[in-house]
Amino acid sequence: MAVGFIQPLVSSNQQPSSMYHIPVLLHECIDGLAIQPDGVYIDATFGGGGHSREIMKHLGAEGRLIGFDQDADAAKNAIDDERFTLIRANFRHMRRFLRLEGIAQVDGILADLGVSSHQFDEGSRGFSYRFEGPLDMRMSQGDSTTAADVLNTYDAEDLQKIFSEYGELRNAKTFAHAIVAKRMQNPFRTTADLRAICEQEVKGELHRYMAQVYQALRMEVNDELGALRDLLTESKELLKPGGRLAVITFHSLEDRLVKNYMKHGTFEDEPEKDFFGNFEKHWKLITKKPITAGAEESKKNSRSHSAKLRVAERV
Ligand SMILES: C[S@@+](CC[C@H](N)C(=O)[O-])C[C@H]1O[C@@H](n2cnc3c(N)ncnc32)[C@H](O)[C@@H]1O
Repeated sequence: MAVGFIQPLVSSNQQPSSMYHIPVLLHECIDGLAIQPDGVYIDATFGGGGHSREIMKHLGAEGRLIGFDQDADAAKNAIDDERFTLIRANFRHMRRFLRLEGIAQVDGILADLGVSSHQFDEGSRGFSYRFEGPLDMRMSQGDSTTAADVLNTYDAEDLQKIFSEYGELRNAKTFAHAIVAKRMQNPFRTTADLRAICEQEVKGELHRYMAQVYQALRMEVNDELGALRDLLTESKELLKPGGRLAVITFHSLEDRLVKNYMKHGTFEDEPEKDFFGNFEKHWKLITKKPITAGAEESKKNSRSHSAKLRVAERV
């Protein structure tokens, strides 16, 4: 796992961030964070900086915002403001990088999970079946394992597991075995190679099937659930009492982790009890049910369809 470096401030003079990514549930996130003007905030998934720019509007002269993104491309959206710092690193290592900035505790953390529209739309990154390109799918260009590596080296059982759990493919076992057979003739290299086997093995509608296959591979390549578990654990340590955590998820497995962690302080569906059967309450739920996009946002931004926002306060 490659760990990033601290990115110096870069002024934003390139493409408008709305072309890079349109932030989802923007005002709902800002409301959820209940921003204090002199507080210290983290945007764990900076991307195009849409959420960050809105947070900055609510900060006073003493406030601070630290953005994290593991993708080098996000640096071109950095906000030219002395209250803002962008760190190129995986958010799973937040605490370590914040210590280097002299920050031990913060007032709010926002995470808008998954990939940005920019990452999807850049064929050379291999995130989308819509483009010809290498089977890459690494969010951090410094990481070592690509989607092609997963397809060419995982055994059939592991492939079945990721396609079944992350992609919810109904024929995950058949698909996994077909991959293993195919790669013995030719290793997987490009999105066209993957498309060919999807066309051969598809159950139901091809685009939906490929979307599920791509999602599963992307989650595996970037260890997205592992990183989310670390983010949640680190948030508990980092947030001051009264500090807010706001997380937007796009996959039911992610939402379940966030829901359980905010409700019980564990990743399981029940609280962690001590020897006497007591359990320590770490969070107060601000959203009892997840917030989803309204009709207008859904119409304007198709990415918002599956977004779920949950907010909790550290107690
Ligand atoms: C959905 S986009 C965020 C968009 C952003 N909220 C905006 O308004 O433009 C997710 C971003 O988080 C980054 N990301 C995802 N997982 C990450 C992780 N574990 N560590 C650091 N960055 C991550 C991706 O590279 C991507 O740029």
